[in-house]
Amino acid sequence: LPATPLDRLGRPLHDLRLSVIEACNFRCGYCMPADKVPDDYGMDAASRLSFDEIETLVRGFARLGVRKLRLTGGEPLLRKRLPELVARLAAVDGIDDLAVTTNGALLAKQAKALRDAGLRRITISLDALDPALFRVLSGGRGELPDVLAGIAAAEDAGFERLKFNCVVQRGVNDGQVLPLVEHFRGSGHIVRFIEYMDVGTCNGWDVTRVVPSAESRDRIHARWPLHPLDPNYRGEVASRYAFDDGAGEVGFVSSISAPFCGDCHRARVSADGRLYTCLFAADGTDLRPVLRDGDAALADHVANLWTRRGDRYSELRGRAGASRRHVEMFLVGG
Ligand code: GTP
Ligand code: 5AD
Ligand code: SF4
Ligand code: SF4
Repeated sequence: LPATPLDRLGRPLHDLRLSVIEACNFRCGYCMPADKVPDDYGMDAASRLSFDEIETLVRGFARLGVRKLRLTGGEPLLRKRLPELVARLAAVDGIDDLAVTTNGALLAKQAKALRDAGLRRITISLDALDPALFRVLSGGRGELPDVLAGIAAAEDAGFERLKFNCVVQRGVNDGQVLPLVEHFRGSGHIVRFIEYMDVGTCNGWDVTRVVPSAESRDRIHARWPLHPLDPNYRGEVASRYAFDDGAGEVGFVSSISAPFCGDCHRARVSADGRLYTCLFAADGTDLRPVLRDGDAALADHVANLWTRRGDRYSELRGRAGASRRHVEMFLVGG
């Protein structure tokens, strides 16, 4: 068996983010703006890895020491028979943390089935609690009440400590930071504020729209005092803060103001089976041909690719050596 590989910067491979579908029912401006990504964009269903291929892939990564698996999209709940896939992946030896990142719009119908299939962790993207603003941010396709119903269904199904991701954009939804905190404080759930990133090629990213985490944190702290917490694990993406009054915690993902490439242990695979060793990678490597040879062959191949990895885009951003071409966010699921 290949040992847990180290990349060129000495970083081990610990977690896998696997996109199960590139399609999405939303068109968030920072990810899949409708004017750049037409409705008929996408792979045909046959280009997506089958459940058998996905299981082989995950077994291969588990052989390399991956214990943490996150299913992403596009919107993963659009993938047909997702609970069946979850059940198969939850049963893979070695995978002890299985999570899904979703926009929540379809969660009301699926939360129970996902829970019964063995899913234990859900992260929901939620950029606003104002219904009109929410609709605008989703590209006119999302309705806040659907997401709130999804959250309620997840709670009823037994999911605890849900995580909520809010991408903060100056002049757009920075006014939602305090309302989001107020809403979820004391609920046992965790809101994380994410700096708007220059992912993909179509979001027209503009640094003036980035709200540094320190600014969001200070605003929250002024209203509900906070103190820092240690990471749950080495390389945790979000930095954690607890409310002094015991009402839980919030998190900040600060890829712009405080890049965390030094501890980046994540591989990403798109729905059509391409490996991307960075969220900002220009190109991926097609794993499909090797998948046919089984999980051991896949593990060897990935170990080989991983040892050549030198990605650290967020640390190079704007400097020589930073790639200009980037894979689209909706292909690698964040
Ligand atoms: P847990 O800590 O396991 O709960 O998950 P997570 O916070 O890693 O996952 P999630 O999908 O919620 O990611 C939170 C945000 O961080 C998303 O906007 C991701 O795009 C972003 N993110 C995750 N990993 C990376 C990374 O390696 N680099 C950068 N730049 N951003 C990342
Ligand atoms: N900047 C920061 N976060 C982003 N996400 C999608 N696009 C961007 C961006 N440009 C987030 C989504 C989701 C997570 C997987 O990635 O809001 O919560
Ligand atoms: Fe869809 Fe998530 Fe991208 Fe929004 S951020 S368009 S919900 S994949
Ligand atoms: Fe990892 Fe690339 Fe993000 Fe850096 S920019 S943390 S290398 S995914």
